[in-house]
Amino acid sequence: MKTMHFAERLYPQAKLENLLCEIRPARGVIDLSIGEPNVPLNHEILSHIPDGFEALARYPKESLQQTLLETIRDWLCKRYSLDTSSIDVQAQITVLAGSREGIFMMPIALFNRELQQGLPITVAMPDPGYPIYQASAENVGAKVCCITQAQIEQLEKLALNERDTFSEWSDIDLMFVCSPNNPTGEVLTLQQWTCLIELANKHQFILVADECYSEIYSEPFKPLGLLEACKHIGNNNFENCLAIHSLSKRSGLPGLRSGFVVGDAKLIKLIQGYRNYHGVSLSPIQLKGSEAAWADEQHVTTNRAIYQEKFDVFTKHLGECSAYQLPHGGFYIWLDVGGDSETFCQHLYQNYGVKVLPGHYLAVSDKVKSEVRQYVRVAVVCHLGEVEQVATAIKKSIAFFSHSNVVGDHVA
Ligand SMILES: Cc1ncc(COP(=O)(O)O)c(C=O)c1O
Repeated sequence: MKTMHFAERLYPQAKLENLLCEIRPARGVIDLSIGEPNVPLNHEILSHIPDGFEALARYPKESLQQTLLETIRDWLCKRYSLDTSSIDVQAQITVLAGSREGIFMMPIALFNRELQQGLPITVAMPDPGYPIYQASAENVGAKVCCITQAQIEQLEKLALNERDTFSEWSDIDLMFVCSPNNPTGEVLTLQQWTCLIELANKHQFILVADECYSEIYSEPFKPLGLLEACKHIGNNNFENCLAIHSLSKRSGLPGLRSGFVVGDAKLIKLIQGYRNYHGVSLSPIQLKGSEAAWADEQHVTTNRAIYQEKFDVFTKHLGECSAYQLPHGGFYIWLDVGGDSETFCQHLYQNYGVKVLPGHYLAVSDKVKSEVRQYVRVAVVCHLGEVEQVATAIKKSIAFFSHSNVVGDHVA
C-alpha cells in the first residue's frame, strides 16, 4: 500500500478542525488543543530586543551569536551541573530557529552523505509523539521505527547483552526521544537515559533528545537531561548524543523562534555545515531577545509557578478520576476518557466550548493508534481563572461517557 506523503497528511490540529467544524459550541471557545504557552510576557526581557527597523537592515553579526552561545553554555552548565570547560561553545552548540526547525532538519543534516549515495536510513521516534519526528524521517525516505515508552522502561530490567532482544536497535541510525514527553508527560529516569546512551554507543546510532519542555515541572522534581546523564556515565564528549532546547515553552516565547542544539562536536559540525547552506540564521532581534531570555531564570520560575497553580486546580477537580495523572513534566494532561476520543472531543466542544486533541492524532503506528484511541491530550494553557471551568467540563464529560452507551461514533 502506498503511504501518504507527509506534506499531504493533515496536521493534528487541522484534523481536529475538520472533526469540530459543524459544531456550534454552547459557550465561548477555550482552545487547549495546541501547546501554545499562555504565560505573561516578561517586559524586562523584551526590552533587550533592539527596536526600530535598523536591526533588520543587516545580516546578523558573528559577535552577537558568540555572546548568545556563551549565555547558553552558562545556562546549560548551571542547569545540568556541568563544568563550564566541558562545553566548547563554537564546536558543540548551534542556535536554531526554534526546536522544530532543528528536529525536521536532523536526518537530512546528519545523514546527508548516506542519503546522497542512496543508502537507506532508519529513524526511531516516540509513539505517540510530536508529528515532526515522523515528517523529518519521511522527508528523507527513511524507514520509520516506533519506540514506545513501555519499550524504554523494559530496557531498565535487562542487562546490556539482553537488550538486543529488540531487533530494532541494531537497525536504527537516528533516534528521537522526548523528555518531558509530549503528549504523555513522562520524564526519562537516569537509568533509562543510561540504557539509551549505552545502546547508541553500542549500535552507533545518534540519540537526539528533544528537551523543549525541560523547564516545566513540579518543584522540586527537575527533569534530568541527556547531557547530565552522559556526564554521569563518563561520556564526557557526549558521543553520539545531541540535546535540543527552546525558548518557546521555557520562556513562553514561541513567536521568537529560538532554540539550540548541543552535544557531540562531530555531529554539530555536520549540522553547522548543512545549516550554512540551509540558511536559517536568526535575526539580531532573535539573538538579543534570546540572550536576555537564557540569562534570566526569574521569569522561568514565575512561569513554572503559574503552571503549578493550574495543575493544582486540575488535580483538585480531576484527582479522584482514576484516569487522571499529574504529568512528571511539561504542560499536558494525557487522559483516558473511557470511550472514543473523537466522540468525547465533540461532546466537550459542543457542550462546554473546550477543545482538546484526540490522542491517536499524535500516534504513528496503527498499533498505537488503536491503543490510545480513548486518550485525549489537554494542553494546560488556559488562563488560571478558566481552569476550574475546564476541569469541571472534562469531569462531567467523562461521567457522561461512563454512563452512556457508546455505540460506534455516537453517544446513545
Ligand atoms: C515535543 C515538541 N518538540 C518541539 C516543539 C517545537 O517547539 P519550537 O517552538 O521550539 O519549535 C514542540 C511544540 O509544540 C513540541 O511539542
